[in-house]
Amino acid sequence: MNGRPDARARRLESLAREHGTPLWVTDGDLVRARLAELRTAFRGLLHEVHYAVKANSGLALLALLAAEGVGFDVVSAGELERCRRVGVDPRRIGFAGAGKTDAELAAALAAGIGLFDVESPAELDRLARLAAERGAVAPYALRLNPDVEAGTHEYVTTGTRRNKFGMPFDAALAALERHRSTAALRFRGFHVHIGSQVTDPARFAAAAAIVAQRIVATRAAGFAVELLDFGGGFAARYDVAPPPIAAVAAAVRPLLEPLHVELLLEPGRFLVAEAGELVTRVIGVKEGQERHFVIVDAAMNDLLRPALYGAWHPVELLAGEEAGRPTVSCDIVGPVCESGDFLAKERLLPRPAPGDLLVIGSAGAYGTSMSSNYNSRPRAAEVLIDRGVARLVRRRETIDDLLATELLPPA
Ligand code: LLP
Repeated sequence: MNGRPDARARRLESLAREHGTPLWVTDGDLVRARLAELRTAFRGLLHEVHYAVKANSGLALLALLAAEGVGFDVVSAGELERCRRVGVDPRRIGFAGAGKTDAELAAALAAGIGLFDVESPAELDRLARLAAERGAVAPYALRLNPDVEAGTHEYVTTGTRRNKFGMPFDAALAALERHRSTAALRFRGFHVHIGSQVTDPARFAAAAAIVAQRIVATRAAGFAVELLDFGGGFAARYDVAPPPIAAVAAAVRPLLEPLHVELLLEPGRFLVAEAGELVTRVIGVKEGQERHFVIVDAAMNDLLRPALYGAWHPVELLAGEEAGRPTVSCDIVGPVCESGDFLAKERLLPRPAPGDLLVIGSAGAYGTSMSSNYNSRPRAAEVLIDRGVARLVRRRETIDDLLATELLPPA
């Protein structure tokens, strides 16, 4: 994409001037549009959307989604607290994750959350004990590992037998039997999540077919199954557009509809990825022996996805007067001291110059939430544009923020 001196470009330039760079810019209206698209695709089948907080856990975004009637999927006490800070009804919170500590389970019980997505028989035993100690009743779903390939990056594949997530069906059934009369537990159904950025609807259908069969078998064993948390993983656009969400819904509908369960979906990326951009300024350019490096002020500590997964994000030069610049193949790299610190490689751009702004697209999911302070770099600021109004929703970290938790032993 080339720089275009349109209204959007002018707005991003002015935000970058006002708040500095690197700067995350999130489009709230686009998040709402994706939510509407999801709800339309699953109309008649969907009971509730539980947004996967890990994808982008900014409080302002959570508040926006809560106002749209969304529930939340959390995976830590920290994410639970984020939901509480924005006033989410705890009954609309589900708690998933392969390693919940007793302290986290206790916090979730105290909060009165609506669903525990239990990942192992041992976790169910702990939940039963902790709930009984508090005189609580914990509503839970058992996470099944369906052993289905998601056809995505190995690091975000979660539903195969090599993965740490969920449990095989026989183990789940045995745990259910064991807790058939545990008063502190209330079995609601199953949870399944096969991976992230799953682009082939057939993979979801394969998981749905397995879970459907498990639900039938569980009912035959005398347990009521009222709920299915079908997870997230719906793909967003990076380089090519994935099949529309309607295609995913069409693939799973015939398998899930006959089950008559409350269907929960836990999308993260689908709702927020394309709504987020990372605006970064060119510090310098450098002719390597083989590559033309464009060194920008954002780095792998801001957006880790290219370094960690080899992820491809669109890059656009925001410049008013680029006409006449030659097109060059650029590696967009940050200031961090690693060769893995790149945001994009071999991109054809009108030759960027120091001071130019670049926009890294589809960065709204797993961008801010995975950013770090590596190289002692303060985390970037974030602006949310919502119903036309741009607001700073995360101030830039200071170096004092970075050092605030450290204790220097006496000399
Ligand atoms: N539910 C569960 C239980 C999950 O583990 C996840 C994501 C989701 C829902 C939401 O998945 P989504 O709809 O966003 O695909 N950092 C990686 C993605 C890791 C996903 C982890 N689990 C990335 O940047 O691609």
